[in-house]
Amino acid sequence: MLRLANRRIIVGVTGGIAAYKSAELIRRLKDQGADVRAVMTAAAQEFITPLTLQALSGNPVHTTLLDTEAEAAMGHIELARWGDLILIAPASADFIARLAHGHGNDLLTTLCLAARCPIAVAPAMNQAMWASSANQANLAQLKDRGIHQFGPAEGSQACGDVGLGRMLEATQLADMAADLFPSNILTGRRVVITAGPTREAIDPVRFISNHSSGKMGFALAEAARDAGAQVTLISGPVHLATPERVRRIDVISAQDMLQAALDQSIQTDIFIATAAVADFRPQNSPDQKIKKQDNSGVMTLTLVENPDIVATIARQQPKPFTVGFAAETRDVVNYARQKISRKNLDMIVANDVSRGDIGFNSDENAVTVLWPNGEQVLDLASKHQIARSIVALIAQRLTGQAGG
Ligand code: C5P
Repeated sequence: MLRLANRRIIVGVTGGIAAYKSAELIRRLKDQGADVRAVMTAAAQEFITPLTLQALSGNPVHTTLLDTEAEAAMGHIELARWGDLILIAPASADFIARLAHGHGNDLLTTLCLAARCPIAVAPAMNQAMWASSANQANLAQLKDRGIHQFGPAEGSQACGDVGLGRMLEATQLADMAADLFPSNILTGRRVVITAGPTREAIDPVRFISNHSSGKMGFALAEAARDAGAQVTLISGPVHLATPERVRRIDVISAQDMLQAALDQSIQTDIFIATAAVADFRPQNSPDQKIKKQDNSGVMTLTLVENPDIVATIARQQPKPFTVGFAAETRDVVNYARQKISRKNLDMIVANDVSRGDIGFNSDENAVTVLWPNGEQVLDLASKHQIARSIVALIAQRLTGQAGG
């Protein structure tokens, strides 16, 4: 399993003889599925060329802060936001000092100041420099700020000394980077999620729809992405921003949603149906606006049943792990259990919509998650928290299935 699939890592390279190992590090990170961008200080470029790191990372190498062309391609703030981790390897004594004191006098220090993601340093320097009280004080400051320290190792050094200060090997650093993402429970999995309402056209200007906000589906997309999955969100019309690194396909009607779900569910591991799909659609939807025709005060619309999207996906071979949602007003667990077998689901998330404190537009939810021979209650919490718990339960069930 690729431990860094879907992760974006900025490898910062500073000036030191160990810079040659950064090339190997980039390969090892990519082997684990990471998307890597290298940032080099001026001193680093005395030891290894940007061209080498560009070829290995498959991305342009970032070297300067004050370069209008480079900033136009990807500005330093954008780059800081891009990363899930900044790993500085090798981290020289000078760089550690500048980081400790909050300097922003080159691209790499500025990125570290602007970053909201974790930062790790892999120190590499002569053993006497390593042991110096100034360096140790700087490292203590970094530790206080939550910056991770990988190594150094002990052994013979390029300068002929023996002692602490060698940079760790590339494979060790790649493993330690992967360990920083403990929630890799869906790494390498593909997840498709339907979300929001559907709109069923009555004529070109009118439609039938519902109040679904899409919040639960979007929260699940984020939670699955954070768990390492590759996520596609098929969304009806909603007012929500697309989560970073989630592929979004916009649809309008139930029939569009079904087509998108069928297209996307091929080779999908997990299908989660949170959408509030309209059960019926007008049988005819004329091209022209319907006019009032008589004075009877009555208008009749003939509705036909829409396809059941989640049940259709659950009939596919091979079938993804299929999760449905059930909004009920009474006898919630019983109705949800019936729905598991009727729709051939692997799991269902049931919520009691008769409760006033949760519902379509709320930011919170309380649910019972059921599977064929078990269930778990998730008490009132934010939709983001509930989404993380649902993802954890899906991952558990999926691994259980794979094992037996
Ligand atoms: O039957 P009911 O509408 O209560 O089932 C709800 C579940 O089925 C949800 O997961 C919903 O997304 C899914 N569904 C669907 N297509 C429909 C109706 C419901 O995928 N036409």
